[in-house]
Amino acid sequence: MKKITIAIDGFSSCGKSTMAKDLAREVGYIYIDSGAMYRAVTLYSIENGIFDRDVIDTERLKKEIKDIHISFRLNKETGRPDTYLNGVNVENKIRSMEVSSKVSPISTLDFVREAMVAQQQTMGNEKGIVMDGRDIGTTVFPDAELKIFVTATPEIRAQRRYDELKAKGQEASFDEILENVKQRDYIDQNREVSPLRKAEDALLLDNTDLSIEEQKKWLFEQFNKVS
Ligand code: C5P
Repeated sequence: MKKITIAIDGFSSCGKSTMAKDLAREVGYIYIDSGAMYRAVTLYSIENGIFDRDVIDTERLKKEIKDIHISFRLNKETGRPDTYLNGVNVENKIRSMEVSSKVSPISTLDFVREAMVAQQQTMGNEKGIVMDGRDIGTTVFPDAELKIFVTATPEIRAQRRYDELKAKGQEASFDEILENVKQRDYIDQNREVSPLRKAEDALLLDNTDLSIEEQKKWLFEQFNKVS
């Protein structure tokens, strides 16, 4: 069977990564969470004083972006890839509220996007990849054979994120999460470089009222149609 490229884009916390991971595992494809890469750049910026309070030292980040190496390695316990920043496992750190609240401004920077897109395109050279994000179908892999754009109401997305954090035993406030979801939607849709939008040839999936099982079934049907 020929291998294809699958691009899954959409709003934050809409379950893109769950569906992308499941599909990749079932069909033996590589899974790349492109949001984790922007989160890792954000964590680097916070830890190195580049993003201090509300100010980003863009000149410094521009100089240091070439020193930020992001990779993914399979976590044998969870069966899922963990994100590494310069050789250190940062999977938990990049999911914190602090990183979530600072990642969208970092993602508006053109030189950050250029560096991430170049790395993502290299990862997808061989096909057989499922990548999720905001600009995968529009910018990273405009020729992807299967493109999906996922959406759900902000309230449902905030609830899912809240449940996820609680399940991990992390402190969470629903109102704070909802505010963060809305804020990221706004910045992601209105930035100048590669704003979040549905590619013309992407299939739209509104999963507000779908269970994970129903969503999975729909996704496999779409995969089987094109592969
Ligand atoms: O997917 P996730 O919610 O983890 O992504 C975090 C943030 O990274 C998004 O809100 C967005 O600002 C940015 N992002 C992006 N382009 C991508 C993936 C994520 O700008 N391809």
